[in-house]
Amino acid sequence: MHTNQVYSELVTVNNGPHKWWHRRWVKIIGIFIILLIVFAVILALVLNFVVFAPKKSETNTTVTALSSPITTTISTPPSLSTTSSPPPTIISTPPSLSTTTPVVAPTTNVLETTTPVVAPTTNVLETTTPVVAPTTTLPQTTATTTTQQLEWSVTGNMNNARNWHTSSVLPNGKVLVTGGEIGEWNGNVSNSAELFDLSTGIWTTTGNMTNAREWHTASVLLNGKILVTGGYGNGYLNSAELYDLSTGTWTTTGNMTNARQWHTASVLSNGKLYDPSSSTWTTTSNMNNERVGHTASVLLNEKVLVIAGSIEGRTYNSAKLYDPSTDTWTTVNNITSPRERHSASVLSNGKVLATGGWNDNIGTLNNAELYDPSTGTWTTTGNMSNTRDLHTASVLSNGKILVTGGLGDGSLNNAELYDPSTGTWTTTSDMIDGRYIHTASVLSNGKVLVTGGRNDTVSYLNSAELYSLFETS
Ligand SMILES: *[C@@H]1O[C@H](CO)[C@@H](O)[C@H](O)[C@H]1NC(C)=O
Ligand SMILES: *[C@@H]1O[C@H](CO)[C@@H](O)[C@H](O)[C@H]1NC(C)=O
Ligand SMILES: *[C@@H]1O[C@H](CO)[C@@H](O)[C@H](O)[C@H]1NC(C)=O
Ligand SMILES: *[C@@H]1O[C@H](CO)[C@@H](O)[C@H](O)[C@H]1NC(C)=O
Ligand SMILES: *[C@@H]1O[C@H](CO)[C@@H](O)[C@H](O)[C@H]1NC(C)=O
Ligand SMILES: *[C@@H]1O[C@H](CO)[C@@H](O)[C@H](O)[C@H]1NC(C)=O
Repeated sequence: MHTNQVYSELVTVNNGPHKWWHRRWVKIIGIFIILLIVFAVILALVLNFVVFAPKKSETNTTVTALSSPITTTISTPPSLSTTSSPPPTIISTPPSLSTTTPVVAPTTNVLETTTPVVAPTTNVLETTTPVVAPTTTLPQTTATTTTQQLEWSVTGNMNNARNWHTSSVLPNGKVLVTGGEIGEWNGNVSNSAELFDLSTGIWTTTGNMTNAREWHTASVLLNGKILVTGGYGNGYLNSAELYDLSTGTWTTTGNMTNARQWHTASVLSNGKLYDPSSSTWTTTSNMNNERVGHTASVLLNEKVLVIAGSIEGRTYNSAKLYDPSTDTWTTVNNITSPRERHSASVLSNGKVLATGGWNDNIGTLNNAELYDPSTGTWTTTGNMSNTRDLHTASVLSNGKILVTGGLGDGSLNNAELYDPSTGTWTTTSDMIDGRYIHTASVLSNGKVLVTGGRNDTVSYLNSAELYSLFETS
C-alpha cells in the first residue's frame, strides 16, 4: 500500500550506513552557524534596548502628539491628565471652547453607557461639559487607571473675578453667587450678583444687592428666597436682604441685632431666629465665646454644632451645641486639634468631619477629626496629604467628601476625597486653577461647581470648574 511504501522508504534512509550529518565538517559548520545566530540575536537586543533606546521625553512627546488631535477637535478634555503625564498645555485651553461646543451631546450617551455616572444626573449639564469629550480615549486609559475616574472640567467664567463671595444652589437648580471682593488685588467689595445656568454653563448678572458685602452669608430659606446677612461693606453690616429668584431682585429685610462679619448662618428646620413671615430677627441666647473663622453645622438631630474658630488671633479648641427647641447653648467636648478657617461636613452617618484649617502655633493643618453626636466625642481620622486652610469640603452623592484647594504651600489646585467607610483620604485629579477663599456647591445633577477664589500667581479668579465623579467598575 502507498502508506507502507513511504514508511519502508523512510526506514531504509534512516538505516543507511553513511548518514551525511555524521561527517565532522558538517557538525563544525552547524555549531558555527548556531553561534552566529546567537551572536546576531544578542547584537540585535543590545542595539534595540541600549544604543537606540528612546529617551523618556521622546516617548512623552509622542503620547501628547497622538492625543492632541483629539484635544483640538473635541474641545478641552482635562481627563487626559489621567494618562500618566499631566499636560499643562491642554489644561489651559480657553474655557469658551467648552461652552460653545454642543457637539459633545451625542458622545454623552456613549459615555453614560460605558461608565455609569454615580450621581443622579439629569443629563442637562452633560451637553455643556467637555468631560465627556475623550470618549475615544477612555477605553485605552481605563486599563491603566484605577476603578474610579474623577474629572475636573472648565465651565463658563463669572463676569467678575471674586473671592470671599457666597454661592447658593437655588430651588430651580441655578447657582447664585453674591458679593465678595472683585477686581484685582485689594479689589473693591461688590454688591453684584450673578446666576449660573447648569444647562448652558453660562453666567448672567442679576440684580445688585442693596449693600456691597464680603465675609457675609447666604442661606436658601424654606420659602425658596435667599437670605443674605451681614458681612463687611462700608463697615461691619447688620443689614440683611432677600433675593427673589422669580423677579431677580433684592429687598432689604429686618436688620440683625448685631453687626457681624465672617460669621455663620444655618437654616433651622423650624425656620427660627430669622422669621421670614415677619422679616424679623430674634436674639438667641449667647454662645459665650466670640469667634471668627469657625464653622456651624446643622446636625441630623437639628441641633447646630459650632466648631472652634479664633478670637483676637488665638485659635480655639472649643465646641458648642445649639438646641433650637430650647434655645440653649451647651459646651461639648473640645476638638482635639484647635483650628480655624477649617471645613466641617455632616456625613450621612450623622458624624461631623472637621478638616484642616489654621492653628496659631502650628500653621496650616492636614489632620481631620470626627464628632459623634451620639457620644459627644471627637476621634482623629486619616490625615489629608496636604495641609490647607480656607478650602472647601462638599458631601458627594456617593457619601464621600470632596476637599478642594485652599491655602497650603501657596494656593492649592489639588483635591482629595475622604471615604467615611474606611476613614482614609485619596487624592483625586487636580483642579485647573489653584484657589483659596473660593466656593464649592453640590449641584442637582451631583456635580460640584467650584467658583472664583484667589490664586497666588494671578490674583482673583473669575474661573469656575465642575467636578464629576465617574465609576468605571
Ligand atoms: C474700586 O472702586 C474705585 C471707585 O469706586 C475705583 O476707582 C477703583 O479702580 C476700584 N478698584 C478696583 C480694584 O476695582
Ligand atoms: C449694578 O451696579 C453696577 C455698579 O456697581 C452697575 O454698573 C450695574 O449696572 C448694576 N446692575 C444692575 C442690574 O442694576
Ligand atoms: C438697619 O440698620 C441701618 C444702620 O446699620 C439703618 O440705617 C437702617 O435704617 C436699619 N434698617 C431698619 C429697617 O431698621
Ligand atoms: C477645653 O480646653 C480648655 C483649655 O483650652 C479648657 O479650659 C476647658 O476646660 C476644656 N473644655 C472641655 C469641655 O474639656
Ligand atoms: C497625622 O499627622 C500627624 C502629624 O502631623 C501625626 O502625628 C499623626 O499620627 C497622623 N495621623 C494619622 C492617622 O496618620
Ligand atoms: C494658580 O496658582 C498655581 C500655584 O499657586 C499655579 O500653578 C497656577 O498656574 C495658577 N493658575 C493660573 C491660572 O495661573
